[in-house]
Amino acid sequence: MTTDDVHHPAARTASRRARPRPADDPPVVLITGASSGIGASTAVRLAAAGWRLLLSGTDQARLDAIAARTGGRPLPADLAKPDGAQRLAEAAVGAAGRVDALVASAGLGWRGPFAQTPADTLDRMLEVNLAAPLRLARLLLPGMLERDRGRIVLLGSMAGQVGVRDEAAYAATKAGLTMFAESLWYELRGTGVGVRLILPGAVETPFFAARGTPYQRERPRPVQPDAVAGLVLAALTTDRDRFFLPHWLDFPARLHGAAPGLFRRMASRFG
Ligand SMILES: NC(=O)c1ccc[n+]([C@@H]2O[C@H](COP(=O)([O-])OP(=O)(O)OC[C@H]3O[C@@H](n4cnc5c(N)ncnc54)[C@H](OP(=O)(O)O)[C@@H]3O)[C@@H](O)[C@H]2O)c1
Repeated sequence: MTTDDVHHPAARTASRRARPRPADDPPVVLITGASSGIGASTAVRLAAAGWRLLLSGTDQARLDAIAARTGGRPLPADLAKPDGAQRLAEAAVGAAGRVDALVASAGLGWRGPFAQTPADTLDRMLEVNLAAPLRLARLLLPGMLERDRGRIVLLGSMAGQVGVRDEAAYAATKAGLTMFAESLWYELRGTGVGVRLILPGAVETPFFAARGTPYQRERPRPVQPDAVAGLVLAALTTDRDRFFLPHWLDFPARLHGAAPGLFRRMASRFG
């Protein structure tokens, strides 16, 4: 696959309007959450694959470090602010002229009884995990549809597929992304633009330190962020639109969909 393949599978079947891209004009990807974990690993992967990177986060020093490593352009933005997504989308288009793909990886969690969730943490989860990806997609989709090529890649979570005790708000934001992707899929069918959903279980990143509680479950075992980055690349370059990691998480997700009562009993018993 070439870097341009992000545009080809859907565009070949769906579009006769898409103009071929010159070989010296690599596709442009905006990665949120690029200063850490999955977003940072994705930046490294996509840089190696020849993409032009626009990298977003709030920690300027970590963002600069990943930009220096990948040749990407740092675009700091606080996505917890209501105008954060708009400012970022404008900065991205201003910096590169267009955005061919969005990888929405910025996110945060919190673990504990829902009623004890700190109010500002709840607001930040809603803004960063759910509202910001939707706002960025709304702002960037028109350009993609105009060019008849593009990808929206969302970092969902297994938590948003089946629900997790003591992670109600986080799971709700991720379930929102799942239904957003599911619904947008109908709209984008037949265009050269696609929406993709990455559904990891646990990933070894600073996510757990940032939320203040370690990962304590036995299963699924945490995977490395580079494995998730590999799936993001696949999401950009193939027609698959849903990626579980590990792959077997597909089974509990299906079981929950088909028999939620049975799933709950098993989850309560086996954790
Ligand atoms: N780790 C897991 O087990 C796991 C499992 C399933 C899904 N996910 C999802 O994968 C995504 C990436 O998580 P990760 O594991 O890579 O976590 P991480 O290492 O903690 O990275 C989180 C990223 O989100 C950014 N972010 C947080 N608040 C922000 C804000 N207000 N404005 C802009 N950016 C903000 C952070 O930027 P700064 O540090 O610069 O603020 C950081 O780059 C998240 O959406 C997460 O929900 C993670």
